Amino acid sequence: MHAWHVPRNGEPGEVMRLEEVETPVPGDGQVLIRVRAANVNFPDALLCRGQYQITPPLPFTPGVEVCGETADGRRVIANPVLPYGGFAEYAVADAAALLPAPDALDDAEAAALHIGYQTGWFGLHRRARLQAGETLLVHAAAGGVGSAAVQLGKAAGARVIGVVGGAEKAAVARELGCDAVVDRRADDVVAAVKDATGGRGADVVYDPVGGAAYTQSAKCVAFEGRLLVVGFASGTIPAPALNHALVKNYSIVGLHWGLYATKDPRAVLDCHEQLTALAATGAVKPLVSERVPLAGAAAAVQRVADGATTGRVVVLPGLGDGAAA
Ligand SMILES: NC(=O)c1ccc[n+]([C@@H]2O[C@H](COP(=O)([O-])OP(=O)(O)OC[C@H]3O[C@@H](n4cnc5c(N)ncnc54)[C@H](OP(=O)(O)O)[C@@H]3O)[C@@H](O)[C@H]2O)c1
Repeated sequence: MHAWHVPRNGEPGEVMRLEEVETPVPGDGQVLIRVRAANVNFPDALLCRGQYQITPPLPFTPGVEVCGETADGRRVIANPVLPYGGFAEYAVADAAALLPAPDALDDAEAAALHIGYQTGWFGLHRRARLQAGETLLVHAAAGGVGSAAVQLGKAAGARVIGVVGGAEKAAVARELGCDAVVDRRADDVVAAVKDATGGRGADVVYDPVGGAAYTQSAKCVAFEGRLLVVGFASGTIPAPALNHALVKNYSIVGLHWGLYATKDPRAVLDCHEQLTALAATGAVKPLVSERVPLAGAAAAVQRVADGATTGRVVVLPGLGDGAAA
């Protein structure tokens, strides 16, 4: 089969290699999945760089979420078990963690319903306790996890302010349903959020970016607000001043969605049922902005790493005319 290999750590566009390899053999409790669609996530880039919280042995195949088909014909959503990731014709997954792919979504959309939306759901509801009528501020609102958080925030009855980098992304954020959009490249983010909230600030901040985004958030979070620490796409891990949290009465709330798979697997299943129901009504619909053939996976991961994409880029089977290996 064809699979992308990462033989050494580095920038995705430089180190990913499309190879002809043996189809993997699943271990105990695992199943082989024929990949129907593999969604590109920022962590794929971090895995290539060797900067993710797990460092699989080299060489490995990236691709951390797929919609695929089992040998007995089930259409499922899965998080492949590395080193046999989703940017390949076949991947390996834990049998117990497979989820049914929603009928309302095509393969690319189904592949994109999992990590981003589960992270948004656990972040907004379980960790930040977002309430209807509250104001939610989402950084990188036109991105992967950001676009999911915007849709879930709206579905929960919140007023959503999106922060994005650039005019094209601002248009995407508006289209997603943001009530107000701030362009971090052109506007003063803190002033704009205070202005949009009558000086009160945002009740919940969803931050997959870190760095300057975190600093801005702390300056425009409301009394008893919650700052959700989701990721560090900027490359800078903030070092918050706890005296500031004390004097302003806000909470800094960490979120590592992957932990729920072992700490509370029932909650992951419950969340999937809720997301499937929301997808069936159209209240959430993954924004798949690009569909590329398997041959284009390395270029796609690099574009996500560079912050050059909106919504999700999904890799589909077939070698097509994508970037050469
Ligand atoms: N905590 C969890 O459990 C969890 C789960 C899933 C993902 N995550 C994290 O969430 C983050 C986002 O993941 P994603 O797959 O959805 O990616 P993404 O948001 O689609 O892409 C990252 C976005 O971050 C913004 N950004 C700001 N500075 C950047 C920089 N220097 N380089 C690149 N991007 C920059 C860009 O949007 P703008 O230009 O609009 O600012 C870019 O589009 C990642 O850090 C990931 O690790 C965390």
